[in-house]
Amino acid sequence: MSHSPNVIRHQAAVTRPRRETQNGHMSINLWFTGLSGSGKSTLAHAVEQRLHLMGCRTYVFDGDNVRHGLCGDLGFSLNDRSENMRRIAEMVGLFLDCGVLSLTAFISPLKADRDKVKEIIGAENLLEVYCNCSLEICEKRDVKGLYKKAREGKIKNYTGISSPYEAPENPDIELNTGTRPLRDCVNDIINELRERGIILQ
Ligand code: ADX
Repeated sequence: MSHSPNVIRHQAAVTRPRRETQNGHMSINLWFTGLSGSGKSTLAHAVEQRLHLMGCRTYVFDGDNVRHGLCGDLGFSLNDRSENMRRIAEMVGLFLDCGVLSLTAFISPLKADRDKVKEIIGAENLLEVYCNCSLEICEKRDVKGLYKKAREGKIKNYTGISSPYEAPENPDIELNTGTRPLRDCVNDIINELRERGIILQ
């Protein structure tokens, strides 16, 4: 939807397929979803490192970073979370055009919002990666000490405690990030990218 009716898109001569050919790999988005502390960012950055070493063009968007800038005006109400995802999805669309392999690590708790993301990006342009880790394990890890605060009522609307998380029913990739070693999870994703012909090496 646009509030600027008199703007007309300019067609670039350097297109996505030309960029992909130059890069030597396809562009796609890996959309990591899961509870806070489930390992989304750790996994996304580890996968990015492997891809980078293979010469791929990559970029990681992660909730804690984006929320300082592009989405710094948003909180954690369900409406704000939807808007957070809409903005990221639009950004990912630009990165797809750039021929980049983007990795997005957001809780993205609601199925309806994840469906909206697929609509914006195009379902064929993303792989949904479900970081399946029990609340118990996430809470035990409590890397940022936020679960403790949420239990004490010091943080409102905390995912898994006082705000919902709807697990994906049919993710493209599901990883038991609570129990499976990081290296194995990375390998699973790299293999999937190979099998789908996204990367050729
Ligand atoms: S999302 O729900 O909108 O997708 P996002 O991934 O951007 O969330 O941000 C989640 C991160 O923000 C968490 O890892 C945590 O560090 C922090 N955070 C702060 N408040 C909350 C909250 N109420 N619920 C969930 N995460 C929160």
